[in-house]
Amino acid sequence: MGKGFYISKPVGIVSIILCAGALATIIALSVVYSEEKAKNNNQVSPTDGGTTSKPPVTTLAPSNEPWDKYRLPKNLVPDHYNLTLWPRLTPDLTTGLYIFTGESTVEFETTEETDLILIHSSKLNYTILENGHLARLTSVNSGVRVPLIKVSWLQSVTQYLVLQLDGKLMTGHRYHLYTKFTGELADDLGGFYRSEYMEDGVKKVVATTQMQPTDARKAFPCFDEPAMKAIFYITLIHDPIEIMKIKNIPVTIDNQHVQKTVFEPTEKMSTYLLAFIVSDFDFINNTIDGVWIRIFARKPAIAAGQGEYALNKTGPILKFFEKYYNSSYPLPKSDQIALPDFNAGAMENWGLITYRETALLYDKEFSSNSNKQRIATIIAHELAHMWFGNLVTLRWWNDLWLNEGFASYVEYLGAHEAEPDWNVKDLIVLGDVHRVFAVDALASSHPLSSKEEDIQKPAQISELFDAISYSKGASVLRMLSDFLTEEVFTMGLRTYLSEFAFGNAVYTDLWKHLQMAVDANGTELPDTVHNIMNTWVLQMGFPVVTIDTKTGVVSQKHFLLDPDSEVTAPSPFNYEWIVPIKWMKTGAVQSPYWLRGKSATNDAMKALGTEWVLANLNVVGYYRVNYDEENWGRLLNGLSTNHQLIPVINRAQLVDDAFNLARAKIISTVLALNTTKYLDKEREYMPWESALNNLDFFYLMFDRSEVYGPMQDYLRKQVTPLFNYYKTLTENWSKVPDGHMDQYNQVNAISLACRTGLEECQNLAKTWFKQWMDTNNNQIHPNLRSTVYCNAIAASGANEWEFAWSQFKNATIATEADKLRSALACTKQPWLLNRYLEYTLDPKMIRKQDATSTIVYIANNVIGQSLAWDFVRARWSYIFTQYGGGSFSFSNLINGVTKRFSTEFELQQLKQFKEDNAEVGFGSGTLAVDQSIERTTANIKWIAENKQNVLNWFRDETNT
Ligand SMILES: *[C@@H]1O[C@H](CO)[C@@H](O)[C@H](O)[C@H]1NC(C)=O
Ligand SMILES: *[C@@H]1O[C@H](CO)[C@@H](O)[C@H](O)[C@H]1NC(C)=O
Ligand SMILES: *[C@@H]1O[C@H](CO)[C@@H](O)[C@H](O)[C@H]1NC(C)=O
Ligand SMILES: *[C@@H]1O[C@H](CO)[C@@H](O)[C@H](O)[C@H]1NC(C)=O
Ligand SMILES: [Zn+2]
Repeated sequence: MGKGFYISKPVGIVSIILCAGALATIIALSVVYSEEKAKNNNQVSPTDGGTTSKPPVTTLAPSNEPWDKYRLPKNLVPDHYNLTLWPRLTPDLTTGLYIFTGESTVEFETTEETDLILIHSSKLNYTILENGHLARLTSVNSGVRVPLIKVSWLQSVTQYLVLQLDGKLMTGHRYHLYTKFTGELADDLGGFYRSEYMEDGVKKVVATTQMQPTDARKAFPCFDEPAMKAIFYITLIHDPIEIMKIKNIPVTIDNQHVQKTVFEPTEKMSTYLLAFIVSDFDFINNTIDGVWIRIFARKPAIAAGQGEYALNKTGPILKFFEKYYNSSYPLPKSDQIALPDFNAGAMENWGLITYRETALLYDKEFSSNSNKQRIATIIAHELAHMWFGNLVTLRWWNDLWLNEGFASYVEYLGAHEAEPDWNVKDLIVLGDVHRVFAVDALASSHPLSSKEEDIQKPAQISELFDAISYSKGASVLRMLSDFLTEEVFTMGLRTYLSEFAFGNAVYTDLWKHLQMAVDANGTELPDTVHNIMNTWVLQMGFPVVTIDTKTGVVSQKHFLLDPDSEVTAPSPFNYEWIVPIKWMKTGAVQSPYWLRGKSATNDAMKALGTEWVLANLNVVGYYRVNYDEENWGRLLNGLSTNHQLIPVINRAQLVDDAFNLARAKIISTVLALNTTKYLDKEREYMPWESALNNLDFFYLMFDRSEVYGPMQDYLRKQVTPLFNYYKTLTENWSKVPDGHMDQYNQVNAISLACRTGLEECQNLAKTWFKQWMDTNNNQIHPNLRSTVYCNAIAASGANEWEFAWSQFKNATIATEADKLRSALACTKQPWLLNRYLEYTLDPKMIRKQDATSTIVYIANNVIGQSLAWDFVRARWSYIFTQYGGGSFSFSNLINGVTKRFSTEFELQQLKQFKEDNAEVGFGSGTLAVDQSIERTTANIKWIAENKQNVLNWFRDETNT
């Protein structure tokens, strides 16, 4: 999957070779549906020869029977499936359920004789066939006796259809297993599911799929493990419609005129990558070197040209990956489709990639450059999977990190190809490396790699889709590609893909191929690829490397954000890594150095006079760096006298490392604050963004205390030159800066200037917003909308708020509605905030799925903080019972409303809250309540230790 909000939930795709998905118009066929239903419910009809089975209830205690294990035995291997599915896009009149019906025949080969068939199946109801069982078994080889089915049942805990036979299936022989079944086309976002949207006042229904990781078994019985690759012959039945280039057969079933769409067989592939969709979407298309590329979306979105950007970029990105992998795109077509309210980010189904709308659709008038970057990178991420993941698939989910980490790394390479002017490759440092450092520095982190036997149940598989797999995976692969060089890295990658094409591998297979490339190229490394990478892959966390420039001693230590936390997980490598160190001295790049063991001496790293040493150039290494105090002093001096001598990414690193080393009490908070002193001369985005990310914590801790005034004065002083720089660059805000990073930093300049009370900035925001209100014509550039809306609403009263609310209610574009919804939380009027809080629990005002994030936006506002906390406390049992199910995220909610907590009084309230609601409970927020208590305790300690120093520092900096 692509990254969602950042983590994308995987969405399964059926690769349909000639058509991405069948398109069918939606016509009410209620009469036929109820007939169909009646038949399924009880009558034995002559055509299906049976009734629908009731799944036997299984309440067995855990035993050692094969059907109680979550992994399939390896004695049956699927060859191909012939699958016909018929989704009904209107509800059954009597039950109100949306359903689909299906028939499947799977051909499999026996590799070891057995009298037991286990095949995955979840939430499907089976028709009892003429033999009295849930399936029929026949032989492909003539003259072979086919054993009879003794018993058949559904084992719901482990999700199997189980068939016990009266004799053995013979080794080397092939059999056909036929089933007929019904499933619910629910709106549960898994398996074959339904998605709904309104178009011209009419409700429309889409039948679509999300198989990854373990929901193909909800659509049809299958050997649902990634290594059980097979070919899929898929036929969909739907209402009649003209479809280009695929075989369509008009048929009449139960007096109903429908149409069969028969797709070309797929390549040999994993079940989790299947996708099939029935919708009445529109598309645009082109052809690149014989590959047919289409972008599908709701008709009005296609008519408005919102698919154009994606269509423009897909061809070039596909071509880039063909070159990078030295392997031509394995399918004749590439379809991409934007689904309304898709919960994940995107899913790399082979040949039919599914996206949420904001991840694929671009609108010049409404989309910011950051919306656009997200589209380019997610497309690149999913296309990268077409080879790495789809053509060659990891054998089991424990290696998920390699699949997702790899795509999360090369998505930046693909996006760079699509938008060469953006310098987007640098942004992996902010978007992945720094982001995951925060998680991986906790005692509760975990290693990238898991043991195969530790990952069994679907829930254990789902848990693997986290920041560690995506962002740490991306970070260590980028480091690997860097120390091998891209040439050697791609050489190994190419032979790996060609050896395992249409098959499966484990992560050490990639190391083996990279080692072959290293040997062929004569690259010098301190150890094998396998041994170097094991230190990064098999133990959690990362090191802080300390360089003492007085002695040349280089040492490493496991970096923990809370130095008092205790790591219980043992590490096979004793928390030592084999660390590649690229570094420079006073601006001159030196030869790379490898650190092995706790510490070593490198005389070249001694510095004299004003010389400084800077390590981890461009932050290609997955570690933080600390220095002796003198070297820190010389680096700070370098920043304030000639900051361009230090690469821009490393300027962002110095700020981020210093603030985090200070949180971990390795250096002083004053030293961290000193890294921000040069910012009045800084014009680049990355260092500013890094500083703002770190200062956020200071805002949370101090925006209700006497530190706030001096802190605001200091930051206003620092940002004013940047604000003026953009005023000039944009000719008094009349133009958009050319550079992508400049556009981002313009947003930072305006946000921070307005936040720190720069009057000119606040007036600007108010004036633009008023123009919009007066003329009803929004001239505010999409890049600036979030921050301008927020600041204008913060600086004004009810009229502005009401105007923004009505714009929110009328917005037809998801990205615009989101920008307004967050800005509405910026008002300083307590009564408006309280009323807005009330709206969050009224689904007519705020959609259920947006309730948590809206409350958290309000809590981010210093005025809204206590209101939101009171609101959540007072309504807890109502919120918990009304919003208990579904996507309501209690842990985001609790973390969000308590993240400013830093006093004894708040700690007591929090403990009281926990006690008062012990009976109601906290559901998915249970861990978050304890984490909040722990965090609040840590904050109290941090403030006690740092407040006076910080206050003095801000005062000194603003008095001079
Ligand atoms: C599946 O369909 C294909 C194409 O029609 C056919 O060649 C094959 O024999 C069928 N296999 C089974 C198991 O029915
Ligand atoms: C499957 O059977 C169960 C139990 O009889 C029933 O509740 C459910 O609605 C059925 N599902 C479908 C899609 O028919
Ligand atoms: C698909 O592309 C062809 C060739 O460029 C064009 O004639 C056709 O109109 C396109 N179809 C759609 C729906 O965009
Ligand atoms: C897509 O490409 C066409 C042709 O180069 C160009 O005219 C159009 O502006 C592009 N659209 C977008 C949204 O980038
Ligand atoms: Zn992915």
